[in-house]
Amino acid sequence: MQVTVIGTGYVGTVTGACLSYLGHQVTCVDTDAAKIAKLQRGESPIYEPYLEELLVLASQRGGIAFSTELAGAARESDAIFIAVGTPPKANGEPNLEYLEAAARSIGRSMDGSRFRVIINKSTVPVGSGNLVETLVREGIEDTHRTGQANIRFGVASNPEFLREGSAVADSLYPDRIVVGAGDSQTLDLMRRLYEPLVAQSFDPPAGVPRPPQMTSAPMVTTTLTSAEMIKYAANAFLAMKIGFANEIANICEKVGAEAPEVMTGIGLDSRIGAKFLNPGVGWGGSCFGKDVHALLHTAREYGYEGKLLQASLDVNAAQRVAVIQKLQEKLFILKGRTIGLMGLAFKPDTDDLRDAPSLTIAERLIQMGARVKAYDPVAMPACKTQWPDVKIKYCDSMTELATGSDALVLVTEWAEFRKLDLATLAPLTSSRVLVDGRNAIQPEMAIRAGFDYTGIGRTVRARNGEMRAVLP
Ligand SMILES: NC(=O)c1ccc[n+]([C@@H]2O[C@H](COP(=O)([O-])OP(=O)(O)OC[C@H]3O[C@@H](n4cnc5c(N)ncnc54)[C@H](O)[C@@H]3O)[C@@H](O)[C@H]2O)c1
Repeated sequence: MQVTVIGTGYVGTVTGACLSYLGHQVTCVDTDAAKIAKLQRGESPIYEPYLEELLVLASQRGGIAFSTELAGAARESDAIFIAVGTPPKANGEPNLEYLEAAARSIGRSMDGSRFRVIINKSTVPVGSGNLVETLVREGIEDTHRTGQANIRFGVASNPEFLREGSAVADSLYPDRIVVGAGDSQTLDLMRRLYEPLVAQSFDPPAGVPRPPQMTSAPMVTTTLTSAEMIKYAANAFLAMKIGFANEIANICEKVGAEAPEVMTGIGLDSRIGAKFLNPGVGWGGSCFGKDVHALLHTAREYGYEGKLLQASLDVNAAQRVAVIQKLQEKLFILKGRTIGLMGLAFKPDTDDLRDAPSLTIAERLIQMGARVKAYDPVAMPACKTQWPDVKIKYCDSMTELATGSDALVLVTEWAEFRKLDLATLAPLTSSRVLVDGRNAIQPEMAIRAGFDYTGIGRTVRARNGEMRAVLP
């Protein structure tokens, strides 16, 4: 099929590359000329493992082109995806200006030469499918005073569930594909578009093997409104699950239980499941906060107060700064101290800093008079550009970070932080305090290396001396 994807961010670029890898002929369109120029040179505008390799394979299979011009691509397409950003406004409501502009432009580009489906992949509030339909019609009216009746199109909601850092695998091997639509012609086209994914009939790319035992991907077809609600409900649940793990971890610290043991014990219950139960500095990223705020906002529009949703936001906000309290317990005074942050990206394997806990922690420390240094394997250039006013001293290595730091705080659990030579780092810091905000380091290893280790929900904080005494 001929496909246009509008927006070449984290979602649009991966969607375009995957659909083209499956054999569709794809054009990715963005208003950001610099991003398009990069993609035309074969470079990914974002850091996402295996994306550049997939773009090469995509160009050899279905074919993939990049453009700043929507009209021609949309006119030639059977399926037009909207994957533009929907960032939050100050009141929590998503900003739909990019979605609205895209929908209107699609309308202006349409003619009567074929039936097209316009697919909302952006996360949009309930009711946006209808809004897109209205805006496309208005766009059509802008350019076609007569003959509008010949222009046929359907609207589908196809929420995206990929995770940054494993976006290619998530897109090729999804847990499910959700399609909301109000008519059978739209659904038929969506079924044909996703047939290779549903049947898992494509050869996996060498770098992204198919999970063992995966033979198909379920397609869940729903109404437009249900599909929109599924995306919000999924993210709200995941945010709440992490918040729950954090709250239990905080209670574990008080009563002297080991949170990781508790999480293993509850996660083995098949009704609960082991994933998303790691206590830490809280969730971040472009989606959870934005989507929970948006769902709360929608609920309020209908006179409903989402108390559980609000609590999940509050728990997360407090959790981000819990590491600062741990630093105070160890160092007492933070004014004039130097704190080394290990990791800036909101999670490993991405350069995305949107709503990253690292920035909340850095800003709070700076406000309190501390000096902040940071080392991140990937996200430092993005941080320097996007947050020029946050006074962070960037370090090129862990050695540079540790040298002269009073304490280290692990904020992002990059794989390389799990494999550090802790014994060489500990003496470089002046107080040997290590706050592991992701429980990513084995406490015994850190203590043996000479660190004064504190995790999240771990009683080891109180038992460093006792453990040191018994360690070989
Ligand atoms: N990032 C994720 O992990 C993720 C996962 C699931 C869903 N989502 C949702 O997907 C949507 C896109 O997210 P993202 O992270 O890819 O955003 P992004 O900010 O990385 O990318 C959006 C892109 O859209 C472009 N754009 C804006 N208006 C445009 C227009 N009128 N025409 C063409 N291009 C336009 C921007 O220039 C930008 O490149 C959001 O609604 C988000 O909530 C994101």
